[in-house]
Amino acid sequence: MTKTSKRGIEVLRDPGLNKSTAYTEAERQELGLIGLVPDVTETEDLQLQRVLTQLAHKNTDLDRYIYLINLLDHNETLFYRTVMSDPARFLPIVYDPTIGEACLKFGHIYRGPRGMYLSMTRRGKVKEVLENWPQKDVRFICVTDAGRILGLGDLGANGMGIPIGKLQLYTACAGVPPQYLLPMYLDAGTNNEQYLHDPLYLGMRRTRPSTEELYSFVDEFVEAVQAVFPKCCIHFEDWTGADAVHLLQRYRNKYCVYNDDVQGTAGIVLAGMINAAKVKGTKLSDEKYLFLGAGSAGIGLADLLCSAMVKDGLPLKKAQARVYMFDINGLLEDTRTGLLDFQKPYAHKHPPTRDFVAAIESIKPTTIIGVSTVGGTFNQRVVESMSRINEQPVIFALSNPTDHAECTADQAYTWSHGNAIYAAGVQFAPVHLKGRTFVPGQANNFYIFPAIGMAVFATVASRVTDEMFIEAARAVADQVPSELLKQGLLFPLQSNILEAEIQTAARVAKVIFDSGLARVERPSDMVAFIRRHVYRPEYPVLASPKDKAA
Ligand code: NAI
Repeated sequence: MTKTSKRGIEVLRDPGLNKSTAYTEAERQELGLIGLVPDVTETEDLQLQRVLTQLAHKNTDLDRYIYLINLLDHNETLFYRTVMSDPARFLPIVYDPTIGEACLKFGHIYRGPRGMYLSMTRRGKVKEVLENWPQKDVRFICVTDAGRILGLGDLGANGMGIPIGKLQLYTACAGVPPQYLLPMYLDAGTNNEQYLHDPLYLGMRRTRPSTEELYSFVDEFVEAVQAVFPKCCIHFEDWTGADAVHLLQRYRNKYCVYNDDVQGTAGIVLAGMINAAKVKGTKLSDEKYLFLGAGSAGIGLADLLCSAMVKDGLPLKKAQARVYMFDINGLLEDTRTGLLDFQKPYAHKHPPTRDFVAAIESIKPTTIIGVSTVGGTFNQRVVESMSRINEQPVIFALSNPTDHAECTADQAYTWSHGNAIYAAGVQFAPVHLKGRTFVPGQANNFYIFPAIGMAVFATVASRVTDEMFIEAARAVADQVPSELLKQGLLFPLQSNILEAEIQTAARVAKVIFDSGLARVERPSDMVAFIRRHVYRPEYPVLASPKDKAA
């Protein structure tokens, strides 16, 4: 039973204690609520009906987003009850793609504080700032400097919508209890001129500092987290490509950290690749991969893919030799100058080219992966070229939001005459072609990071490793039944996401125990262990009839 020392209006103003019209008579008497709420006792299901009715009157997904965030500010349980009642419907509203628009307008639609804003002017005082957070046992901080939000670029303080949304998915998708989650915006300024001149912009009005200055501030932040929240895992989100990779390298062997753009995206795309190979009857190491885009998502995926091939027995150099990359300046090859350290393993001996189709014709990849942020770059020539070379070309167009996808599902199936094995970073509707129906999968990392989060939460893991992401990818891939694979779907259905994530978290937890990274005792039944930690959107019992009698 949850008890509280709060009384009356204070109870109603606490989103974790607010039950709106669902208080029992005993609770009303015990907590001094009589007269402060309508004198009826409603069930959560009835309250959910009211929410759905009110949502039906909203005209746009952004209005629905604002409504739901407002609900969260007042009544956390009912918010999660709503989102978890129909994930396939609500995840696109509380997260991608609506979140992109919400971020663009964040300063304008802002209603009240959520999470923490830590600006560089607080240098030297970060520990004191963290101590202002009311919860003392924080297990996850999702932190962004908003250097690169989705495919939308530098959004400065408007990027705060992302850590807020990401952490909601820990709860909605995998059942991590919300009180342990802290969204954070690390304000290092912005180079976005529009926001610097917008009177409603909520961040520091200065351009971004040097990398050295930024990293020394991040060092102070990461160290302060260890002191204030010793069981906390730091989830880096939507930093620019180079910062994402470099900060991960800087902390991953020392602290409990991960970067979702690098590792989470890699995990879900790897799951798609495992299933694409299953459909073709091949192995990961039989395939040849060409990336369009060599930023944080591309490099993270290439590295994880190589680790997975190494785990399957291929030497690292041979695994890397199967991966090519092409970016805004053309193919990464061994004569190119100015490549970043982490891109060099994929710069193979090959004549320079700036023509992607020429690169396809020469390299003959079986799989192309779009992580370029540029919509339409997998044009008809690209898909036709892949189809000439491969019976079943694997085409992953992962950039988001929707108009940034390298090609749509319809284009991929039409131009390949229905032969493509396709996945996107956003949700596309089923495609009907020549009497067949194709169900395009969404390589959304929300199948991976909430499950990793749940496994880390339950085991109190001290590190997050690539092995955990590879196992998560395998677990996700294993949960797609063969009938759905035949229709082209490479990922589990969103409607059953909580159960899928529980199964994935259990497999990741096993890896955590096997690697000696857990800080709790090993349970005998891993799935039951995870289930014991799952948050359920049910109101706390705040008083029972007995309390009144006593
Ligand atoms: P980034 O900014 O670090 O890298 C972008 C890369 O694309 C760079 O290598 C750049 O040179 C290259 N590029 C830009 N324009 C190009 C062009 N016209 N032709 C060829 N290459 C070009 O971005 P990051 O973090 O790697 O993200 C890339 C995309 O992946 C974004 O659109 C993002 O939305 C998407 N993504 C998708 C996820 C998912 O779950 N599906 C998760 C994370 C990222």
